[in-house]
Amino acid sequence: MDVIPSGRALGAEIIGIDLLKDVSAAQREFIFNAWTENLVLLFRGQSLSFSDLLRLRELFGPPGQAANQLLGLGRKSYLPSDLPDDCTIISNITDANGKPIGALGDGEAFWHTDSSFTETPISASLLHAIEVTEEGGETAFLNMYKAYEEMPAGLAAKIEGKYVNHSKLHNSAGMKRPEFAEVTDPSKAPGVKHPIVRTHPVTRRKCLYLGRRQMSYIFGLSLDESEALLDEVWAHACQDKYVWQHKWRVGDLIVWDNRCTMHHRNAFAPNARRLMHKSTSAGEAVV
Ligand SMILES: [Fe+2]
Repeated sequence: MDVIPSGRALGAEIIGIDLLKDVSAAQREFIFNAWTENLVLLFRGQSLSFSDLLRLRELFGPPGQAANQLLGLGRKSYLPSDLPDDCTIISNITDANGKPIGALGDGEAFWHTDSSFTETPISASLLHAIEVTEEGGETAFLNMYKAYEEMPAGLAAKIEGKYVNHSKLHNSAGMKRPEFAEVTDPSKAPGVKHPIVRTHPVTRRKCLYLGRRQMSYIFGLSLDESEALLDEVWAHACQDKYVWQHKWRVGDLIVWDNRCTMHHRNAFAPNARRLMHKSTSAGEAVV
């Protein structure tokens, strides 16, 4: 087994481990350490069932739940009935009746970290490629340790000790969740309060924790001040030098750490098919 770093700000490929087989204690430690160091891991050529995804998430943390479960909204009605509760399908494919079989459609998914709108957001997300697009649909990842460590001192001083409201209103494709009433003022959005700089529970390193830009709000500021400061922080964080973009192949499994990264998905053609299976590991309160 070996680790091949992406050469970018984060991300590495792991080779020489067959995830269909039982993962040994030595492999487990190797994978966890590589994940801690590289933040995002890629395993190529895997052919994993939902039960494999539920087994493998435990390499990274306790069993985690899908966003809808964490929000107390129950199971998405469009998901196939044989899908395990803790798994999710990310797809633009529709069934014979024209109903979607998964979430997020074909549009862009803006920069975000998963489930930050809950008290104890998930730690790992595992995403496995079943069908991929020729063009579009790439996922990019962003290193939030580096974004924090390289922040200009003046900007770091402005966010010190600040807390952000992480709105529950929209999914990562920017679509409002139908279960919530429309809110236009970000300072009034239903959400959860987290520090804008968090300490990673494993590495003890500090990193930016932004959630998503849409309907975000910094407590203690006027709405205009909050918007201006958020724009400044997001412009700094979303620089290409902190990013690694991945072009998917069938059989890829990617595992990212939501506590110290953000991710983004490019839009793709509506007539192209993309099918991904997902599971998650539970995280902890944000401090
Ligand atoms: Fe996501």
